[in-house]
Amino acid sequence: MLNFELYNPTNLVFGKGQMEKLGSLVPAGAKILLAYGGGSIFKNGIHEQVINNLKGHEIVEFAGIEANPHFETLMKAVAIVKEQKIDFILAVGGGSVIDGVKFISGAVNYKGDPIEILQKRILIKENAIPFGTVLTLPATGSEMNSGAVVTIEATKEKLAFGGSALFPKFSICDPSVIQSLPKRQLQNGVVDAYTHVMEQYLTYPHEGHLQDRIAEGILHTLIEVGPKVVEEPANYELASNFMWSCTMALNGLIQKGVPSDWATHMIGHEVTAMYGIDHARTLAVIAPSLYTVMFETKKGKLAQYGKRIFNLEGTDDEIAKEAINKTVEFFHIMGMDTKLSDYTKEYSNTADFIVSRFDERGWKGLGEKQNITLDKVKAIVEMSY
Ligand code: NZQ
Ligand code: ZN
Repeated sequence: MLNFELYNPTNLVFGKGQMEKLGSLVPAGAKILLAYGGGSIFKNGIHEQVINNLKGHEIVEFAGIEANPHFETLMKAVAIVKEQKIDFILAVGGGSVIDGVKFISGAVNYKGDPIEILQKRILIKENAIPFGTVLTLPATGSEMNSGAVVTIEATKEKLAFGGSALFPKFSICDPSVIQSLPKRQLQNGVVDAYTHVMEQYLTYPHEGHLQDRIAEGILHTLIEVGPKVVEEPANYELASNFMWSCTMALNGLIQKGVPSDWATHMIGHEVTAMYGIDHARTLAVIAPSLYTVMFETKKGKLAQYGKRIFNLEGTDDEIAKEAINKTVEFFHIMGMDTKLSDYTKEYSNTADFIVSRFDERGWKGLGEKQNITLDKVKAIVEMSY
């Protein structure tokens, strides 16, 4: 197993009715910026619950953090935090709001132009404004990790950043909040979490046996509860297993001591930046092509995955190939289209555009072996048309 450090200071407060603890979780006397998205929290009553549980605190509201949050929007909140002398930020929403708040938190005291945090991928290790979250959409794991993704609207770049100062102080995760989610977002959540596990699991056989088994446990659980939770979001057993699987998929645990890939995400982020396609749906488009193009590198792990997750039989090569088909089948069950042409008719220059972007950034070799070179990226994207 590879050496590792495990640091995760987020207090995860999970379960029905946990919102009652909000008042005791935020620092006493703090002036709070309450940040949220386009208004779903008014329709499902979460805004009211938050306000009721923050009585006695001075609150400034910041609305309108969009899906795939924009740098330009977030900089308005950075100005408010400075002007209003905010001590604590509360993100109420899905991955976009939480990621947006991570950016705000890191940008306020950043010495320099905050766009550098994205363009130079500056690690935020100190001086961040403390924040907590109320999760309303299980998917990204952002509620218990220190990473985030923000889009610069002006240049259409969707860029990841993070750092040890960007863990939420606490996250309230009540699975009953998923009842108001549209089916499309529930489907997205399952597929995003599934792909997070795959990025950290589907590499090559290694010595991290426990990490493999935990990863496989999350995959099994998502395959079992995913299709059902979309139909029955009010079923608490399904909702709670779904939400916890999403958190466990990307809170850092399964990544410790093992190689990881993340190229599906890197390519997928570009597809969202170009066409506005939902994050999870870009993953469902890219992942199968990536596993196919990188078959020789990944076939050992694909065979393990095929045997343990889908009970496939045959030679390792046969199992590995069929495991890719089974993955596509699961994505279809989860309501995903798996070809770029299903989302846009203007796809013909996508591969060249992404390759030139990666080239400019010096990303010449992605993946667990850094062997996803630019020609491979081109082949992966073209195969996904
Ligand atoms: O904006 P509102 O009105 O709140 O509506 C949102 C939004 O339109 C709605 N929604 C959220 N909770 C709801 C709800 N509607 C009804 N009931 C509720 N309870 O859902 C829509 C999508 O929300 P969003 O936050 O964009 O979705 P998600 O959680 O999937 O986040 C996606 C973003 O996270 C990034 C993605 O790239 C994307 O920008 N990611 C962040 C990661 C991380 N920080 O670790 C890892 C991921 O791989 C991912 O890249
Ligand atoms: Zn993701």
